[in-house]
Amino acid sequence: MKTTIAEVSKYVGKEVTIGAWLANKRSSGKIAFLQLRDGTGFIQGVVEKSQVSEDVFKIAKSMTQETSLYVTGMVRVDERSPFGYELAVTNLEIIHEAVDYPITPKEHGVEFLMDHRHLWLRSKRQHAIMKIRNEIIRATYEFFNNNGFVKIDPPILTGSAPEGTTELFHTKYFDEDAYLSQSGQLYMEAAAMALGKVFSFGPTFRAEKSKTRRHLIEFWMIEPEMAFYEFEDNLKVQEQYVSYIVQSVLKNCSLELKTLDRDTSKLANIQAPFPRITYDEAIQLLHKKGFDDIQWGDDFGAPHETAIAESFDKPVFITHYPTVLKPFYMQPDPNRPNVVLCADLIAPEGYGEIIGGSERIHDYELLKQRLEEHNLPLDAYKWYLELRQYGSVPHSGFGLGLERTVAWICGVEHVRETIPFPRLLNRLYP
Ligand code: 4AD
Ligand code: MG
Repeated sequence: MKTTIAEVSKYVGKEVTIGAWLANKRSSGKIAFLQLRDGTGFIQGVVEKSQVSEDVFKIAKSMTQETSLYVTGMVRVDERSPFGYELAVTNLEIIHEAVDYPITPKEHGVEFLMDHRHLWLRSKRQHAIMKIRNEIIRATYEFFNNNGFVKIDPPILTGSAPEGTTELFHTKYFDEDAYLSQSGQLYMEAAAMALGKVFSFGPTFRAEKSKTRRHLIEFWMIEPEMAFYEFEDNLKVQEQYVSYIVQSVLKNCSLELKTLDRDTSKLANIQAPFPRITYDEAIQLLHKKGFDDIQWGDDFGAPHETAIAESFDKPVFITHYPTVLKPFYMQPDPNRPNVVLCADLIAPEGYGEIIGGSERIHDYELLKQRLEEHNLPLDAYKWYLELRQYGSVPHSGFGLGLERTVAWICGVEHVRETIPFPRLLNRLYP
């Protein structure tokens, strides 16, 4: 029976054949232990000299790492392995022999691994991270579909820039200038006026010259936008959504979390509601923690976010930032116009901001004034302003950065491991 590693539990006591690669190997005179992978999972194949032909044992002993093969064997329960099963090998048929695979089981430097990302992806650790990334995406679609949202795809090539003009990737669009999208938000606002509750999931681009463990040049964002939702409603969606993805990963990716040595007790606790502090309170908290230099009006850097997060065991919302720190479209607080009705969600354990969101300005005159204050060309935003001319309503939304969320849930230090092929400062290959 031809099957996959993920399916072997159905065939205990039976003989199966699996297309696989050799990930690693140990052998002595009479027995060889093959660490096999097939993309769906990892399993140990045990080759006993007394149980197979001389030829098969010879292949087992000489087979090189990443050689592809068809392996046939009897499925056995194996209580010592975290996976729970192993294969008592009866036959091995080489498909293609891999010679001198560069990534050996010993330690390699990060730059070397990044240069070989196309191969590094095959490792058990990278496999686990990609499976968890996939589970977060799956749970995202499930959450929003279950809650009446419609998936909308904003364009990648755009003429207008929501998050400021300094980090734009410029390109020619025939005779016009265009930019790679840094956020689909403005289009999602238009879509919310048509479909009520919408969400997007797509790549976004920022020509940020930041070389940190939290920044990618190309990253994927989930951007929900909701008509008639005000500031408070927006935070509720966020805490429910983030709890939902964390609980889905806990439920469906226990093996992967184990592979990554993730402390799952920290994740089990992630349930709505999440704590909230205002920007003002965050400044006070930072002063108490010895950040004497930070003043009202300063933006928070990674060390500040980490210090704030240390006081909480769940993600924490920082709300009501100074208007001057935030983009033009955020709704000012009616009681205090020098702050906006926004919130950043800071992940625990030092993973930083995973969500930025706000209520949006829905008054035409105010929005126009804000565009002018930001020196943005009104003609490029004409269509966006028009959304405030025909039945404008209060609305809110947010953007969750997928890679930072994957890093946090996986407990992985750097975002470069959370996307299949990271685009970083100075790295466009592979
Ligand atoms: O806070 P940001 O810039 O917000 C927006 O773009 C809004 N227009 C979203 C919205 O309201 N629809 O980005 C949102 C999130 C951040 O919280 C962070 O998680 C992630 O996107 N992010 C990055 N992730 C990796 N690399 C980068 N360079 C990132 N920049 C932002
Ligand atoms: Mg932000």
